[in-house]
Amino acid sequence: MKSTHEVPTQEITLPEIHNDEIVIDIGAGSEALVSRITQAKVCAVDISISKIREAQIYQSGADWILGNAIQLGIQNAQFTKACLWFSLGYIANTDAKVRVFEEIHRVLKDSGRVSVLSAKIDCQEPKFHFRVKYKFPDHTISIMRYLVRGRQNQTIDSISSMITRTGFDIIKLDDRYHYFSIIATK
Ligand SMILES: C[S@@+](CC[C@H](N)C(=O)[O-])C[C@H]1O[C@@H](n2cnc3c(N)ncnc32)[C@H](O)[C@@H]1O
Repeated sequence: MKSTHEVPTQEITLPEIHNDEIVIDIGAGSEALVSRITQAKVCAVDISISKIREAQIYQSGADWILGNAIQLGIQNAQFTKACLWFSLGYIANTDAKVRVFEEIHRVLKDSGRVSVLSAKIDCQEPKFHFRVKYKFPDHTISIMRYLVRGRQNQTIDSISSMITRTGFDIIKLDDRYHYFSIIATK
C-alpha cells in the first residue's frame, strides 16, 4: 500500500464573511484565510507559534491567540461565528474533534454559527495529502497544500454527527466528494 493518499487539486471559492461578525478562527495559521477576506473582528487561534508567525506576514489585523482549541481560555458566548477551515484534519483524534466542537459551542453567542470546510479523510494510507486552489472573494488565487494523518474517518456524516451531538442544528451541508462544508447554528 502507498504511504500517502493523494487527492486531485480542489478549486474552492471561499465563503464571504460579513463585516459585522465577531469571528473566532480555529487553527488559523499559517495562512490566516479568514482574516484576509473580511473586515470583521477576528480572533485567530493556533496551537503553533511558528504557524502564527508565518500567518502574521499577511498583517490581516486579526488578534492572535496561542492555544489549544480543545480548551480555549476565553469566556462563554463571545463570538457570532466560528470558522474551522481545513484545520479539523490537523486534529486527527475523534475525541479531540468532539471537544473542539464543545468549546466552539461554549464560546459562541446564542444563534452563533460554525462554518466548517474540511477535506474528506477516509483513506487506509497513514498520510493524506490535499491541495487546494483557493479563489478569494476579490478573485485573487492562492494555492495551498495540507499533509495530515490518514485513517481519520473524517466524512460529512461523521462530522455532522459530532456537530449535532454537541448541541448545534445543521442548517447547510455541501458535499463536494473530496471536501465538504457544513454550517450549523447554536
Ligand atoms: C493547515 S492549517 C488550516 C488552514 C487555516 N485555517 C488557514 O486559514 O490557512 C491547520 C492549523 O491548525 C493548527 N492546529 C492543529 N491542532 C490545533 C489545536 N488543537 N488547536 C488550535 N490549532 C490547532 C495547526 O497548528 C495549523 O496551523
